[in-house]
Amino acid sequence: MKITVVGAGAVGATCADNIARKELASELILLDIKEGFAEGKAQDMMQTAALLGFDTRIIGSTNDYTKTANSDVVVITSGLPRKPGMTREELIGTNAGIVKGVCENILKHSPNAIIIVISNPMDTMTYLALQSTGLPKNRIIGMGGTLDSARFKYQLSAHLNCSPADLNAIVVGGHGDTTMIPLVKHATWNSIPVTKFLSEEQQQQVINDTMVGGATLTKLLGTSAWYAPGAAGAALVESIVRDENKLFTCCVSLNGEYGQKDICLGVPVVIGKNGWEKIVDMDLSADEQAAFNKSADAVRSMNDVLKTL
Ligand code: LAC
Repeated sequence: MKITVVGAGAVGATCADNIARKELASELILLDIKEGFAEGKAQDMMQTAALLGFDTRIIGSTNDYTKTANSDVVVITSGLPRKPGMTREELIGTNAGIVKGVCENILKHSPNAIIIVISNPMDTMTYLALQSTGLPKNRIIGMGGTLDSARFKYQLSAHLNCSPADLNAIVVGGHGDTTMIPLVKHATWNSIPVTKFLSEEQQQQVINDTMVGGATLTKLLGTSAWYAPGAAGAALVESIVRDENKLFTCCVSLNGEYGQKDICLGVPVVIGKNGWEKIVDMDLSADEQAAFNKSADAVRSMNDVLKTL
């Protein structure tokens, strides 16, 4: 397996580090536009190989896409991260051009790759990747819901004083502070509904804290988070390269599923060797479906901005 991570900033480097430690690839290319930056990060990570005992060769490259040739999976993290007080949506003007350019270069050298999009605004960047590459829809996966679901489990685990790994809980909809939908009524603690243990107020608190999970960290850190976003990207890579068929929430192209069309939005999908293998239908309540439709409207108007750029 050959994997490329585009963008050697905090998210890209963390994702690459996870991929290497899990030995998901024999060759891992880390690419960045900043002169020498990816080479430096790659060397630093390679110097952990003897200590951690992994067998992945990490190669850094300053914008030389020939090095990425024939990658099986490509993770795109390029673009500006948000600063405190910014929404993900405000990044569209700068990041759309960057992501489009990256997609074109990737496609030239790795026409069979599966692409995972992390760049923000993630739902619109996933839609842009699909439009600009013309790749089969199953090979374009937006990471947002995977991260948001992990954050949702973190918030639930704090209230329940339990292990996040014992929770089943997902966030659907967009990857925005106001567009994501943590499905608390469906969440379980090893099959026991979490609503049994949490008051309506506590449930609302968990939902609110999950929705601003990224913004809270941006405020604390001065830039957007990287450990969980990087780990979420690597988890998707793992399910693809090991053909695990794990169920994640990912941003994928909808064609009537969940009542939406011509949009990429977060829904439960099975991730395996072909990318997203199938969309899994779940019964949303009328309120949840209404929230999903509202989320779709917001993402669709962001997608419309692409036409004006
Ligand atoms: C976050 C960014 C990666 O939510 O979207 O932290």
